[in-house]
Amino acid sequence: MLRTKDILDEKDKRLRLVSEEVTFPLAKEDREKIQSMIEYLTNSQIDRLAEKYDLRPGMGMAAIQLGIPKRYLTIVHEVGEEEFDTYVICNPKIISNSEEMIYVEMGEGCLSINRDIEGIVPRYARVTVEGYDMDGNKIRIRAREELAIAFQHEIDHLNGILFPDHIDKKHPFKGQDRCRPI
Ligand code: NI
Repeated sequence: MLRTKDILDEKDKRLRLVSEEVTFPLAKEDREKIQSMIEYLTNSQIDRLAEKYDLRPGMGMAAIQLGIPKRYLTIVHEVGEEEFDTYVICNPKIISNSEEMIYVEMGEGCLSINRDIEGIVPRYARVTVEGYDMDGNKIRIRAREELAIAFQHEIDHLNGILFPDHIDKKHPFKGQDRCRPI
């Protein structure tokens, strides 16, 4: 079972690596890792389990956050009371995006970043992501709002980018007028 201490902290240089594409069929250890990522993210969003196992709540995780420089990620999106949609995608690419931009009003979060960060991270309101499932079948996901942000955030991880990189150091709220808060 994955624990919070297994997730790399932002100070770890490995988070800056550009992850490598995976080939199929996916190795058994990667499949097992994906299952443990889903389990962590799901449990972390269920209060009593998060408390029991001391998990930080999060909806997305990229392999590199566990020190694995491979291009796959998981997202567990809460769509109802303890009801979740689960996404696994390998070698993901954003193939189209909306003009409209949004940002998380409370501030974006990341399981690898353990401090408060002020500022706006402009994200597309809608994206279409193409990639592969664990068996190598091509998949296409349309995401909007919070889910769209999650995909953009996790794909950034595969390229060694962390969300504070998107925040203007001198003017952290720059771009606010062009983005809709969610
Ligand atoms: Ni993150």
